[in-house]
Amino acid sequence: MPSKPDKAQLQEVIDCARATYINLDEGENASYIPFLARVPRYLCGLSIATLDGDIISAGDTDYRFAIESISKVATLALALEDVGPDAVQKKVGADPTGLPFNSVMALELHNGKPLSPLVNAGAISTVSLVEAADREERWARILLMQRKLTGGDIVLSSEVNGSEQTTNFHNRAISWLLYSAEALYCDPMEACDIYTRQCSTLVDTRDLAVMAATLAGGGVNPLTGEQVLSADRTSPKVLAEMMMEGLYTSSGDWAYSVGLPGKSGVGGGVLAVVPGIMGIAAFSPPLDDAGNSVRGQKMIGKVASALDYNLF
Ligand code: DON
Repeated sequence: MPSKPDKAQLQEVIDCARATYINLDEGENASYIPFLARVPRYLCGLSIATLDGDIISAGDTDYRFAIESISKVATLALALEDVGPDAVQKKVGADPTGLPFNSVMALELHNGKPLSPLVNAGAISTVSLVEAADREERWARILLMQRKLTGGDIVLSSEVNGSEQTTNFHNRAISWLLYSAEALYCDPMEACDIYTRQCSTLVDTRDLAVMAATLAGGGVNPLTGEQVLSADRTSPKVLAEMMMEGLYTSSGDWAYSVGLPGKSGVGGGVLAVVPGIMGIAAFSPPLDDAGNSVRGQKMIGKVASALDYNLF
């Protein structure tokens, strides 16, 4: 297989990856957010977006699902643009926590420093680093970054947001712990509210594949042609953070087996970045114990190995 296969070859590869895993019936939908528990577990989609702007899809790729933790990538990119990589590393961090995505213990073990912008504590802290005069400007800038990275008309789902805002007690506690450790840079409940909203937008696999391709292309969105992120300052730092913590406690296994920067969300989405070549995104709701889509990880792994895209 050549390193830049044509569209027909890519279609064959993703059709094969989906067919291999569509009947893999392992894992459970996230149950702690009522909306997510109700999404049909059989849904399964896979998309590729190339740096030339081609999109190749298989399966349930028009189904719009909650972005959840994949939103952390967009907000991290925005904070890196706003305050720069040194401030993000100093105030939030760039190390894996080795603990679940919503861990309070990880904070306690490191004097309140979150370590990673891709776990809940670090993501809430990252929200607070975004430059904004008030709550609604903070939200508007984060939503705009999701739109610019995906090239899609991303909107907040009032249903998902309602489901999350009325059950996010753990994240509210994390926000106050961050505040007490002086690791939060706006009002704690504002940061938690905006973090919850950013997780509650709807995307499809096509949107996520374009987001991954934008990161693969040094911050240029292949659909819109816009330079969304500065190539040298932001994209490499986002990819480094994804490699360290993108799939939570499975990030090491993911690096070992797939070898690409990735990011998952409890809505069932997963994306992976092939630098200089493409973005790959998958969706299927049942999750493993770490909170990552079972079929999504397998399908992306199969595509990456078929195309020989393991970076290592
Ligand atoms: O903070 C939460 O609980 C969710 N809104 C997002 C978490 C998430 O997606 C973790 N993922 N794998």
